[in-house]
Amino acid sequence: MATRKKAAKAKSKAAAKKSSKKVVKLKTVKKPAANGNGLPRPSNKPWGQAGRALEGVKVLDFTHVQSGPTCTQLLAYMGADVIKVERPGIGDITRGQLRDVKGADSLYFTMLNGSKRSITIDSKNPKGREILDRLVKYCDVLVENFAPGALDRMGLTWDHIHKLNPRMIVASVKGFGPGPYEDCKVYENVAQCAGGAASTTGFRDGPPLVTGAQIGDSGTGLHLALGIVSALYQRVRTGRGQRVLAAMQDGVLNLARVKLRDQQRLAHGPLTEYSQYGEGIPFGKATPRAGNDSGGGQPGWILKCKGWESDPDAYIYFITQAPVWGAICDLIGKPEWKTDADYATPPARLPRLRQIFDTIEQWTMTKTKFEVMEICNGHDIPVGPILSMKEIADEPSLRKTGTVVEVDHPVRGKYLTVGNPIKLSDSPPDVRRSPLLGEHTEEILRKVLGYSEKELAEIKVSGAITAPEKPAKAEAA
Ligand code: COA
Repeated sequence: MATRKKAAKAKSKAAAKKSSKKVVKLKTVKKPAANGNGLPRPSNKPWGQAGRALEGVKVLDFTHVQSGPTCTQLLAYMGADVIKVERPGIGDITRGQLRDVKGADSLYFTMLNGSKRSITIDSKNPKGREILDRLVKYCDVLVENFAPGALDRMGLTWDHIHKLNPRMIVASVKGFGPGPYEDCKVYENVAQCAGGAASTTGFRDGPPLVTGAQIGDSGTGLHLALGIVSALYQRVRTGRGQRVLAAMQDGVLNLARVKLRDQQRLAHGPLTEYSQYGEGIPFGKATPRAGNDSGGGQPGWILKCKGWESDPDAYIYFITQAPVWGAICDLIGKPEWKTDADYATPPARLPRLRQIFDTIEQWTMTKTKFEVMEICNGHDIPVGPILSMKEIADEPSLRKTGTVVEVDHPVRGKYLTVGNPIKLSDSPPDVRRSPLLGEHTEEILRKVLGYSEKELAEIKVSGAITAPEKPAKAEAA
């Protein structure tokens, strides 16, 4: 018995020795860290030199106009290889819309399609379909924002794509989600209206207003990009792709959620931070338009600054944040308001906001918006100058951070574009000019899809990558 125990002890000692040796070996060959999450060890490369965040992700970009291109441009800035498919001879319709330079792609197009490659393929040509199938097998993500049903009519149904490439993520922008309006075509302002934003924008005594920020198009593109990177992350575990849908109505509502908040608060009484409350105007059944009232709990308004008579942007947004009320009173020459029961507390101020902002405006009108900004920031008072697009374009700090970037285009020359508004410390953005129509067609067919010269010659005569020849003038007559 004792000898058997001794032998077992010796065996386990040897096994332990062996396994401890194994551990040492594991360490020396730099296998994945034994932390259980299956991730590689942290890179030792200097920050910004370990590749871009989405490097290796291949995107088949079937987008056009604004919402889809916003999404794929962001993915490209993050390092994805974005291959934009366009109709031969025509391309994305925005290439020719709102043209400012004769013969050059419009800024509408160039500012939404930077850092991408362009290939022309007629998706209704049999050879074109063959090329698309190869691209489907090659890519990780297909992004599209055609009218409902258009992708299916091209033969690119979910079943077809999933069969060719089960890892493919198919991401779509549509105007509406499933429901009564799902078949409708939608543009920016339709979405702003249907998503609830327009009914809550503007002044109470005026009609609904749309905003200049493209919350329906660019906003939904942003939502879609988040859906895509989430699906890519889930694919690491499941190995399969999925469909991602961002409906513009949903995207706008998500951005206007504080107004749905107010809708529900209405059931419990008036919205006391709306100036309408102070003016004694009763609330109706729905969230009203609130002019320039603040959307949060700190009252604010847009006030005139020096030069407002001739400069349409000489204004500042002024927030009467409660903790700095004393500093505001001192600045505007009303120190007595600090202790006056009618002004000293936020609830006491609510019914007289209009009069309070009129008084503050008497002070802001004596200063430029930048002077007001400097003085108020010195006292921690939150204010925002109304910056014109000219001021934004000229602002050196935005150039320095890469939010506004100048790129050079072979036809139009230099132009400004908006770089990546999201900054990653280990993934420097890749902001390049937009491609010319079909600029990378041959490069992609040869180098990405591996077509031989003979096959390429066949493709060229098939009409799959070139616009149909226009008949000669004499024939046309
Ligand atoms: N080769 C051949 N045909 C192509 C093609 C290609 N490379 N690329 C597009 N087409 C065809 C499509 O197959 C479609 O043809 P079909 O209707 O015969 O099937 C056609 O071009 C036009 O597509 P569609 O999306 O209907 O364009 P539109 O100009 O009529 O509508 C929108 C534009 C924006 C209203 C519509 O696309 C839409 O509602 N999209 C979803 C919501 C959206 O993103 N809106 C915001 C836009 S910023």
